[in-house]
Amino acid sequence: MTAQHTELQELPPDLKRELLPKHVAVICDGNGRWAKSRGLPRFIGHQRGVDALKNLLRCCDDWGIGALTAYAFSTENWGRPTEEVDFLMTLFQRVLRQELREMMEENVQIRFVGNLSALPGSLQEEISRSMEETRNNRGIKFTVATNYGARQEILQACRAIAHKVQQGLLEPDEIDEATFERHLYTEGICDPDLLIRTSGEMRVSNFLLWQIAYAEIYITEAFWPDFNRNEFHRALCAYQQRDRRFGKV
Ligand code: IPE
Ligand code: IPE
Ligand code: MG
Repeated sequence: MTAQHTELQELPPDLKRELLPKHVAVICDGNGRWAKSRGLPRFIGHQRGVDALKNLLRCCDDWGIGALTAYAFSTENWGRPTEEVDFLMTLFQRVLRQELREMMEENVQIRFVGNLSALPGSLQEEISRSMEETRNNRGIKFTVATNYGARQEILQACRAIAHKVQQGLLEPDEIDEATFERHLYTEGICDPDLLIRTSGEMRVSNFLLWQIAYAEIYITEAFWPDFNRNEFHRALCAYQQRDRRFGKV
C-alpha cells in the first residue's frame, strides 16, 4: 500500500457523492517534461506516469467513480523515436503482467481500446489475457486507449456499418446514434462526464472525439506524474461547480 493510499481514502467532505462523474477520461500528458524538468531521461517520466495512473485508478475506486479511461498511446505516437516507442510497448506489457493479480483482487474490469492488432504480438497476448481474466469483474471499468485515434475509430465504425448495409443487414435510415455507438471501440461504456488533460495543453489530440460531445473539460498545468489525489480532488471540485446544461436553458 502506498503512502498516498492511506490518505483521503474516503470521499473528501466537500465533494457531493450525487454529483460525482460516472466516467472520468484522462489525457495523461507531460511525462517527458516532468522528467526533463528534473534532468532525467524521458523514460523515467513514463515509469512515474504508470504510478500516477495506478493511484488514480485506486482513487476512483475508493471514491465511488465507476469508470476511468486513460489515453496511454495515440496512433500519432508511433512518430516518436523508436527507442521511446519500444520502451513504452515493453513498459505496458510488463505493467500489465505485474498488475493483473491485483486487478483481480480489486475486482477491476480492464479493457483496451484502439487498433490493437498493430501492437507487438507479445503485448497483444498480455492484453487479451487481462481482458479475458477480468471480464466478469464487477468493480471499476478501467479502459486503456492504446494505439488509439478517434478519427480511426470513427472510420472503422463507418466501414463496419457500410458492410452491414451492403450485405442487407441494415437500412441506411436505421443508422442512428445508438447504432453508431455500437460500432465504436467504446461500445457499452457510457460517455465520459469529465475529461482531464494534464500539462496545460489546450487540445484533445484525437481522443474520444465522438464520446466527449458533452464532457466537461478540465485542464491542469500539473505534469501527469504529479497528478495525485489532491490534483484529482481539485478537478472534481471544479467539475461539481459546472452547470451542465446540455443545450437547454
Ligand atoms: C504522455 O507524456 C505519455 C505518452 C504520450 C505516451 P508525453 O510523453 O507526451 O510527455 P511530454 O508531453 O513530451 O512532456
Ligand atoms: C496525447 O499526448 C496522447 C497521450 C497522452 C497518449 P501527446 O503528447 O501525444 O499529444 P500532443 O502531441 O501534445 O498533441
Ligand atoms: Mg505530450
